[in-house]
Amino acid sequence: MLKALENKILKEGIVLNEEVLKVGSFLNQQLDPSFIMEMGDEIARIYNDEKITKILTIETSGIPIAFAAGTKLNCPIVFAKKTASSNVSGNVYKSSVYSFTHNKTYEIIVPCEYINKNDRVLIIDDFLANGKALLGLIEIVKQADAHLVGCTCAIEKGFQKGGDSLREQGFRIESLAIIDEMSPAGITFRCN
Ligand code: G4P
Repeated sequence: MLKALENKILKEGIVLNEEVLKVGSFLNQQLDPSFIMEMGDEIARIYNDEKITKILTIETSGIPIAFAAGTKLNCPIVFAKKTASSNVSGNVYKSSVYSFTHNKTYEIIVPCEYINKNDRVLIIDDFLANGKALLGLIEIVKQADAHLVGCTCAIEKGFQKGGDSLREQGFRIESLAIIDEMSPAGITFRCN
């Protein structure tokens, strides 16, 4: 766990209701570059010995955290696009992600040329709620026949069970902060 992230959430996070935490001031809308680099340092520390060859994330808010970790782990960062774009051509890995937050299913796409069976992949995202985005990214790693080392999200909402369910399935999930309970009256973090 990254204590500095817990403190940042307590200082700047706004609990909109029991389900949604707003962290627009440093992660989702405005970015705090030095703090994001600090998160990247911590992720690199966790996976330092794992010989990561590629970081996989998903647009939009996973990208800055992945970038910060990638500068330390010294490997390329690939991001899944959520919409087909004219820049994406040729063979692609694809999977479907259902978002509870937005109540819709979307397709994520990664060109096959960017991940292959020799890669040791670390998946990074900003929030872990029900785990559907991570599952979609894990599916892409499977399609590439690459080795998945682990997944890290900055903020896991422990009460939404996506993280614990993935851990039970045997995946290595290392979140930088896990919120076990939140309400406008306060936030409780999981201890490590
Ligand atoms: P899941 O992948 O874990 O199942 O979560 P879900 O579909 O519910 O999340 C959908 C989007 O909502 C994701 O961003 C996720 O990061 C974000 N999200 C989930 N819970 C919270 C929360 O409590 N606070 C905030 N601020 N965001 C949350 P996205 O739509 O893909 O947005 P972006 O990455 O383009 O910014």
